[in-house]
Amino acid sequence: MLTTLYAVLFYIATLTLVGGLAAKLLRYARTPAPLKIPTTPAPTTQAGVVLRMAREIALFESLFKANRWIWVFGYVFHVALLLVLLRHLRYFTHPVWEWVSLLQPFGIYAGFAMIAGLMGLWARRIVVPRIRYISNPSDHLMLALLILIGASGLMMKFLAHTDIIAVKAFFLGLMRFELNPLPADPILLVHLTLVAALMIIFPFSKLLHGPAFLFSPGRNQVDNPREKRHIASWAAKLEAGPGKSA
Ligand code: HEM
Repeated sequence: MLTTLYAVLFYIATLTLVGGLAAKLLRYARTPAPLKIPTTPAPTTQAGVVLRMAREIALFESLFKANRWIWVFGYVFHVALLLVLLRHLRYFTHPVWEWVSLLQPFGIYAGFAMIAGLMGLWARRIVVPRIRYISNPSDHLMLALLILIGASGLMMKFLAHTDIIAVKAFFLGLMRFELNPLPADPILLVHLTLVAALMIIFPFSKLLHGPAFLFSPGRNQVDNPREKRHIASWAAKLEAGPGKSA
């Protein structure tokens, strides 16, 4: 019963995450960017733009220049999250890839670092009056959700162990449309319920800022308006005259 319930929950969560993400990103990709608005100083070549985006993704460069405290907490959280997620690949692969095995010890420290980063970001929303004023309940809820996922994960690691072999068999089974029994440990069930909630909320929440960043015209445009006339596709059609296409 419990196994079936969580199997259905994770199928729904996966479909929502993948379908929701695809729909949102398709919408962003189709949204016209009629104006040339790269945030200056901006690269003047396409290769420069790729480099700028890479620095932004790997180092959060503009945040570093804008606000050092948010950068520290935000960067620690995101890098730690990446390590934690990579460590979790062991539940979904058999045999476990060599580099995932090598990462395992770092993944545990990353669990603590992830929570520390989130606490810092949350403290900022409470302590800085300006930020407190513009914080919505959903901002607080997202932080709470991520902290609770991390805390329940660490509790399993250090306080109340679960049968991780059985957890792995359950998830590998789901990937082949087979049901293997899920352990009924309360902390594991809390961890998994919160993870499923996160997967369902993700495409409709502000957490989408990660993939959505790629579509930001301020960052992905080349600063070449003098060399090359920028014209949106619909404007080109208008210029070509009624009934004609550009
Ligand atoms: C379906 C997806 C997931 C499964 C099956 C899962 C399962 C587990 C299990 C079994 C543990 C205990 C590890 C141990 O005892 O050695 C754990 C730990 C942990 N989980 Fe998850 N988890 C999932 C998703 C996530 C996500 C999305 C996050 C973060 C947002 C997360 C954060 C953590 C953390 C921080 C720990 C403690 C550190 C560690 O052992 O890596 N988990 N998880």
